[in-house]
Amino acid sequence: MESTAPRTTLDKSIFDSTIKILAAAVPVKLIGKFQGQFKSLLLQIPAIKNVVPVEGDKTLKHLLLDKEFGTDPESLPDNLKQFIKDNEIKLEEKEISIGYANISCHEALEKVIPEGVVIPTGFESVGHIAHMNLNEEQMLYKYDIGQIFLEKNPAIKTVLTKVGHIENTFRTFNFEVLAGEETFETTQNEDGIKFDVDITKVYWCSRLGQERSRVIEEFFKPGDVVCDMFCGIGPLSVRAAKDKGIKVLANDLNPDCYHYLRRNIVQNKVADLVLPFCMDGREFVKHCVLESNNQDVLNKEEEKKEPVDPKNKKKKRAPSQKEEEEKLVPENETITPIKNRSFLHFDHVYMNLPMDAVEFLDAFIGIFNNANPEIWNKEDKPEGVSKGEGLPLIHVYGFTTENQDTDKAKEYFTTRIAEVFKDCGGFTEDKILKFHNNREVSRVSSMYCVTFRLPEEVAYYNPHKRQKTDEEGE
Ligand SMILES: C[S@@+](CC[C@H](N)C(=O)[O-])C[C@H]1O[C@@H](n2cnc3c(N)ncnc32)[C@H](O)[C@@H]1O
Repeated sequence: MESTAPRTTLDKSIFDSTIKILAAAVPVKLIGKFQGQFKSLLLQIPAIKNVVPVEGDKTLKHLLLDKEFGTDPESLPDNLKQFIKDNEIKLEEKEISIGYANISCHEALEKVIPEGVVIPTGFESVGHIAHMNLNEEQMLYKYDIGQIFLEKNPAIKTVLTKVGHIENTFRTFNFEVLAGEETFETTQNEDGIKFDVDITKVYWCSRLGQERSRVIEEFFKPGDVVCDMFCGIGPLSVRAAKDKGIKVLANDLNPDCYHYLRRNIVQNKVADLVLPFCMDGREFVKHCVLESNNQDVLNKEEEKKEPVDPKNKKKKRAPSQKEEEEKLVPENETITPIKNRSFLHFDHVYMNLPMDAVEFLDAFIGIFNNANPEIWNKEDKPEGVSKGEGLPLIHVYGFTTENQDTDKAKEYFTTRIAEVFKDCGGFTEDKILKFHNNREVSRVSSMYCVTFRLPEEVAYYNPHKRQKTDEEGE
């Protein structure tokens, strides 16, 4: 690991101070009872013991009392005063030296950041990396802030701050290292699953973990197939496969995402369930639909499962990493061939590119005209049953500043989706099956997930057919 010298010469003597407190000289045999009854009233300062020897008397120990009581015995609660009186315990004044090691992160920050500047309260962590979002004023104290966060959080080895706004296609951020090692590849654990990630090359957001859990729990059923159109390094795809045995077609345009996606598939041993792609999202869904005509796959017999003799049931050996790796196409190939019929019909499309995923919905206009009806059940539905029922559920994300009013937010997304589908039936609010406010992105905007079934008029839209009918009508 690369390590760098601290970027700040934080003068730690500024944290030194002394406080005066009360110490109760308690007979050794009463210490357990005292601690049992008055634990919460004892001094609580990191790295300072609250039971200390009494010089020259082994029959007693000093129990240090909370600093909020100062040195005034009258400020102690009545039940403690009574205990002290009943057991003839002596109270004494004691001076305690406090230094950098004995104060919290917040207390240390309070010392280096002047009044009037907001003290940063937290950071988002990814493996060993903490990343913050310091504002202009806080940036003046950035290296001290970085050093303090680093030293007060033992699991953290690198502290960064984001710089500017995310503006590029791959949604990666510019950053500055504030403290610690300059190693940006790390391993994040989400829901017990390990994800390798280099946060300088790919998008990652730990806070979205809860949202992924929601979608997996609420919508994905065993046997479903998911198209993860903007999958990043695969947090949803790999989790859906690991948690529920869901099959996933996972795609991201960023070659670095593709690299880490493949690593995460291999290390989590889901290569039979998650097929990686590195394509433009629109091309990817079109490809997935067209694959339903892939004769090689259609003609292939489904693998027959050997009947298992319960008496001779052997536990299946988990594949090795090498075996998993061998299931993937070489990394310079960006399309994983579908080899199994069960991947040809997908039930969900997950569109987590909140900046402009809604506009990517145009990819679905008319794409099912070229789908294999045998797989997509277009023709063989009984009379009266909509052929659209086999169409996938779409889970599309977007930001809106209408974050105080759900009705307005819903109207906003309905209008945006209707604009995309304007030539093929538009879009109305009643089509929305779930409208979920994810999290406050900032004070001014929110991220929503809109879930709806792809409308039949969109999926099978054919401009030529309509034109012909119009002409015929004339
Ligand atoms: C907001 S990130 C979400 C990633 C992932 N779903 C997650 O939660 O970590 C959006 C992803 O879309 C990818 N992306 C951007 N434009 C794309 C496109 N045209 N086609 C496919 N992926 C794209 C970016 O590289 C990025 O990884």
